[in-house]
Amino acid sequence: MGNKEEDLYIKQAEKKDLEEFACIYLEGYKGLEEYAYTHMDDVKAYMDWLWRRDSKGIFKAINNNKIVGFVAGDSNWFSKKRGSKVGAVHEIVVLPSFRGRGIGTALMEKVLSYFRDKGLSVVELWVGDENHRAIDFYKNLGFKEEGRYNYWIRMVKNL
Ligand SMILES: CC(C)(COP(=O)(O)OP(=O)(O)OC[C@H]1O[C@@H](n2cnc3c(N)ncnc32)[C@H](O)[C@@H]1OP(=O)(O)O)[C@@H](O)C(=O)NCCC(=O)NCCS
Repeated sequence: MGNKEEDLYIKQAEKKDLEEFACIYLEGYKGLEEYAYTHMDDVKAYMDWLWRRDSKGIFKAINNNKIVGFVAGDSNWFSKKRGSKVGAVHEIVVLPSFRGRGIGTALMEKVLSYFRDKGLSVVELWVGDENHRAIDFYKNLGFKEEGRYNYWIRMVKNL
C-alpha cells in the first residue's frame, strides 16, 4: 500500500465526466477492440446512453485529482430471463497503468452496494468470452457464468 492507494476515492459521476470517461474507455479497451466501440462518436453516444439508463448508478475512481476508472450500473434493467428487475453492470474500465491495485474491485463494491440500497437481489453483466482478465476479475467477486450469446458470456451474482 503506497500513497497512490491512500489517495484513491470513489465518487458518484457527474454529467461533465462523460467526456473523460469516453477517453478512458478507448484507452482501456486497447487490445480488446472486438468487444468495444472504437470510434469516439460511438463511444460518446454509448456514454450518453449509460447516463440516460441510470445517472445515479455511475461512479468514478479518482487518484490525485485524476479520473482513473469508472463503472456504469443500471438499477432499471429488466431481465427477460428472470422476468424481473435486476441490477446490470453495463461497463467497468480502469486505466491500464492503474490496474491490479484494487480499483476495479472498489468500483464494483460501490455499485453492488448501490443496487442493494435499491432493494435489488441480483446483478448481471455480459463479458467477452476471451476477455480472461475481466472474467477472472468477476469470478473473484463471486459472479457465476449463467449463459452465452454468440461470443458473450452472461455472468450473475446474488446481492
Ligand atoms: C477488469 C478491470 C476493470 C479490472 O480492474 P482492476 O482495477 O485491475 O481490478 P482489481 O485491481 O480490483 O483486480 C484485478 C485482478 O486482476 C489481477 N491483476 C493483478 N495485477 C494485475 C495487473 N497489473 N493488471 C491487471 N490485472 C491484474 C489480479 O488477479 C486481481 O485480483 P486480486 O485483487 O485478487 O489479486 C480492468 O482490467 C479493465 O479495465 N479491463 C479492460 C476493460 C474491461 O475488460 N472491462 C470489463 C468489460 S465486461
